Amino acid sequence: MQDIAGEIARLKGEQDAILLAHNYQRPEIQDVADFLGDSLGLAMEASKIDRKNIIFCGVDFMAESAKILNPDKKVVHPIVPPHLIAKCPMAAMADRETVLGFKNEHPGAAVVSYVNTTAEVKAVSDYCCTSSNAVKIVSKVPEDKVIFVPDEHLGNWVKRSVKDKEIILWPGYCRTHVRITTEEILDLKEDHPEAIIIVHPECTSEVVDIADEVFSTEGMVKYVKSSDAREFIVGTERELGHRLRKAHPDKQFYFGKRAVCPNMKQVRIENVLESLRSLSPVIELDDETMRLAKIPLQRMVDIGRGD
Ligand code: 13P
Ligand code: SF4
Repeated sequence: MQDIAGEIARLKGEQDAILLAHNYQRPEIQDVADFLGDSLGLAMEASKIDRKNIIFCGVDFMAESAKILNPDKKVVHPIVPPHLIAKCPMAAMADRETVLGFKNEHPGAAVVSYVNTTAEVKAVSDYCCTSSNAVKIVSKVPEDKVIFVPDEHLGNWVKRSVKDKEIILWPGYCRTHVRITTEEILDLKEDHPEAIIIVHPECTSEVVDIADEVFSTEGMVKYVKSSDAREFIVGTERELGHRLRKAHPDKQFYFGKRAVCPNMKQVRIENVLESLRSLSPVIELDDETMRLAKIPLQRMVDIGRGD
């Protein structure tokens, strides 16, 4: 593993490449990343990259967003054959035609798409958001009515804070986060009564109800850093534990046993090495889809920069 990490470091320089990775990537990939973050952090980072090539370790929609924000750069998405792409199943739950149908049914409503959508869905959306800025984006859109696509659970979380808008939900969900149950969280709490419960807003409302705090993955990282607590029950994908344990060896983290995103695990370190050598496979999107999809993504990035 040491050899692979060394070779990856050498090739990054040789290929003028930056390696971006999501917080759910395998530990050995997290360890070689130049930037590790949540969907918002990765999109922000992708919008200011000065290298020629981006090696994106995450799922398809994240790599596509990096490409949309950097149309002139090569975005490489290392994957494991025979899969052609590491797909987020939630992103596959919304399609362009059905979104257009919703828009027709609700004239005047703004479409706010979670970044966990395809480029085609982004191209017919007004704004994008991530789990860390969804409340802010929905409350800032000028329209009183919002079609929120595709995560019903994140949408319900937004509804709790944004009371002055009508929010129409889409019936999408994350297979990994809905496997985190109240029973499992409460069992962990019984075993670790001092632990603080922090959960991702993709969890069901029942799980959110018993949480002490609700955050995106990066929000969890920040919260743990600033908290005096020593123990945390974490309601999100288990691999975030690698980053948390590395940063806080003195703290304890407990995750749900089934909280694994198999799609994120399709990226392996051997593929990262191979992709750095060959600068393939690349993300390719047609120019018009990229142009249209950039509008809601850029609005989100600009709202973030406005803080
Ligand atoms: P974050 O933006 O919080 O990292 O979440 C992305 C995701 O896919 C959660 O399942
Ligand atoms: Fe998609 Fe869920 Fe995996 Fe996140 S954890 S990438 S939403 S399937």
